[in-house]
Amino acid sequence: MAFNYDPNSANTAKAAVDTSKKVRIGIVGTGWIADAHIASYKKMADVEIVAGCDLIPGKAKAFFEKHGVAGVKTDYKDCDDMLADKSLNLDAVSVCTYNRQHAPCAISCLKAGLHVLLEKPMCVTTEEAVEIIRAEKASGKVLSIGFQPRLDENMKMIKKIVDSGELGKIYYVQTGGGRRRGIPTPFGTTFIEDKTAGLGALGDIGCYSLDMVLNAIGYPKPLTVSGYKSDFFGKDSNYCGYRADNRAEYAKLFGVDDFAAAFVRLEGGIILDFRIAWAMNIDTTGDTLILGTKGGLRIPSTECWNGTVGGAMKIYHEVCGQQTVTEVPIIPEDKNMSLFDKKIRSFLDACKGIGPVPVPSSQILYNQAIIDGIAKSHAVGKEIEINIPEI
Ligand SMILES: NC(=O)c1ccc[n+]([C@@H]2O[C@H](COP(=O)([O-])OP(=O)(O)OC[C@H]3O[C@@H](n4cnc5c(N)ncnc54)[C@H](O)[C@@H]3O)[C@@H](O)[C@H]2O)c1
Repeated sequence: MAFNYDPNSANTAKAAVDTSKKVRIGIVGTGWIADAHIASYKKMADVEIVAGCDLIPGKAKAFFEKHGVAGVKTDYKDCDDMLADKSLNLDAVSVCTYNRQHAPCAISCLKAGLHVLLEKPMCVTTEEAVEIIRAEKASGKVLSIGFQPRLDENMKMIKKIVDSGELGKIYYVQTGGGRRRGIPTPFGTTFIEDKTAGLGALGDIGCYSLDMVLNAIGYPKPLTVSGYKSDFFGKDSNYCGYRADNRAEYAKLFGVDDFAAAFVRLEGGIILDFRIAWAMNIDTTGDTLILGTKGGLRIPSTECWNGTVGGAMKIYHEVCGQQTVTEVPIIPEDKNMSLFDKKIRSFLDACKGIGPVPVPSSQILYNQAIIDGIAKSHAVGKEIEINIPEI
């Protein structure tokens, strides 16, 4: 059974889906995350999966066979080759390529007149993000970026608390997180090589921490950034993750960040203090804090990339002059619909014109500008202004 899903609703709004016209879907890149996309598309009664492609010959065909989806055309050498096949009559695509191929594929798909669900991070640089949005505007099609954690009810609660005014004017945000050891190499090197990933921990998990807080506070424009990044673990041939797989050569291929930190000034006089790690010699870089003039919110150290908060959130405020701490109970996981199902459903509803774009590019542009700003600031060794070209 499929549902219409309103990503902005407090409740999980459900209504029968109109199946009279199927949304014809293509999948670009059939790696690990594409598994999650197809699993959710298969549950949607108004979808027909008609095509897929991958750079690796035979990978797309094997992917659809593995998922038991028959009749899908896959004999394409890449995204552009698939788009050239007008007989497919595609309506929409999921772009599930590695980061460096986000911008070229998203732009080609938008120019081909397709709705696009683009995996996170939006791309690698701010300039690419601008080009993607220009293509989106010219096409008039839907573009949503794959940040499914913000569809989680606890994540929505963070935004509701800020929007309620309970915290007053927000002036300081601390966020980030990471793993003690967790460079993602089990599936090969596409996450760690510069030519495929372009960004390391920043683009893999840092962008989620940023989305969690920036979405809550209304995505203020970033103005300046002083950023730092390092690669001490990724470049170490003795790193435990490589040792476990007998892959010491990965250290030579490692070309991205495994740790990053930044001090960012946001419009409205807000300071953002951020750090993220794939590997570090500590268990956590701390809780997420949102400080306002009337109250402060503590979100316990979180694996927000999974759509989870690390425990009950607490609001520190005054009640009738008394310093008070209010615990916000954890909202249980929605057993009816996974976050991926919500991500796909809300994208489809936007494509059909019956729902809002779940994760708009205009917001994620600022997320991208911060990540890219960290890399650019690190390169010059000082604080830089964030300049976003006119779109
Ligand atoms: N939203 C999430 O929860 C989530 C989770 C994991 C990964 N991701 C994102 O998804 C993206 C892909 O991750 P992954 O783990 O599936 O990577 P992956 O390397 O396993 O798969 C990417 C695939 O895209 C293919 N590809 C690249 N360029 C192509 C092109 N031009 N045309 C056709 N195919 C092309 C590659 O050959 C590869 O098979 C990354 O950007 C990652 O950040 C999102």
